[in-house]
Amino acid sequence: MQTEVAKILEISEEKSQKALEKAGQIIRNGGLVVFPTETVYGLGADGTNEKAAKSIFEAKGRPSDNPLIIHLYSVDEAEKYTYTNALYYKIAKAFMPGPITVILRAKDIIPRTVTANLDTVAVRIPVHPVAREFIKKAGVPIAAPSANLSGSPSPTCFKYAFSDMNERVDMIIDGGESEFGLESTIVKIESEDTLTLLRPGAITVEDLKTVCENVIISDAVLEALKEGERVLSPGMKYKHYAPKTEFLLLDGDFGARFDYVSKREGKVALLCYDDEMAEFEKIIPKSLLLSLGKKDEPRTQAKMLFTRLRDADTLGADEIYAALPKLDGIGMALYNRMIRASGYKIIKL
Ligand code: TXA
Ligand code: MG
Repeated sequence: MQTEVAKILEISEEKSQKALEKAGQIIRNGGLVVFPTETVYGLGADGTNEKAAKSIFEAKGRPSDNPLIIHLYSVDEAEKYTYTNALYYKIAKAFMPGPITVILRAKDIIPRTVTANLDTVAVRIPVHPVAREFIKKAGVPIAAPSANLSGSPSPTCFKYAFSDMNERVDMIIDGGESEFGLESTIVKIESEDTLTLLRPGAITVEDLKTVCENVIISDAVLEALKEGERVLSPGMKYKHYAPKTEFLLLDGDFGARFDYVSKREGKVALLCYDDEMAEFEKIIPKSLLLSLGKKDEPRTQAKMLFTRLRDADTLGADEIYAALPKLDGIGMALYNRMIRASGYKIIKL
């Protein structure tokens, strides 16, 4: 399949408007469009078209039991596709449009392919201007997973979206780098005052507690699923974001991590904090040290993580190490992606 590329940085330009018109038309005709969002790039199709939704799974190599998020232009539109409640509107008022996805009971208009036969559907209203204009022009809900091949890190910039999706989709929109670099926070509404966090993201547990009394953290967020355990969010059971090189996490302070890494034989690569770079350069060649940003700037680390994992994988190292992040704020999202990328290999120092 021939893939058209459209670079859009300023949506008001005539050229951008034309490209977005075309992207909308591709969607209405049942095609596939990769588009930028503030979290990661998405691989979109018409969320009301069973056949188009199916082609998403084929393009990504995604298991058919892993449901898709539908991306809408406005908060109220959720009424057409789901059964909402007051908590949905509280969450919407506080965080939408933005990097949050809400799981609600689905109406029949949403095809079973999108929901992977669940009776719920995931709804998200992105804030990225290009994503918004694209959804508006398409005029239908956009079903979209992250635009990576299944199992790879989600693409946070055009380069990676292109390398995974070229010749698999009709169009790729280049909208620059994603602001957050990690996928949206996913919450499931359980009742008027209770929600379950299925996937942590830039909207943190602390943020959620400002609008909802009870925030339950699903077990799958912070640990591996136990054998036979029922999973609330099907995506959680797949090994994800994984580099091909062995990736391990070190749970310890700088001194302990330094000692551990210095004793490793073979070619070791390290995702490290800027503040620790100079010290690590004493034991590891600079070309194998990849910066994640400053130690006290977890937002930057979140933004860099997937890019660095992809970069680290090209170094021909035997092992890649990184420090286990703290759990507060956006740290929980980093922690969640890192433990899964490592296949839950955490070395307690
Ligand atoms: O930031 C994001 O959320 C990006 C951008 C493109 O919007 N999308 C994204 O989609 O990360 P995806 O498909 O890679 O991850 C969606 C996750 C999967 O783990 C899936 O299992 C879960 O959401 N999910 C979708 N529908 C669900 C449902 N009805 N119940 C529980 N989990 C659901
Ligand atoms: Mg994904």
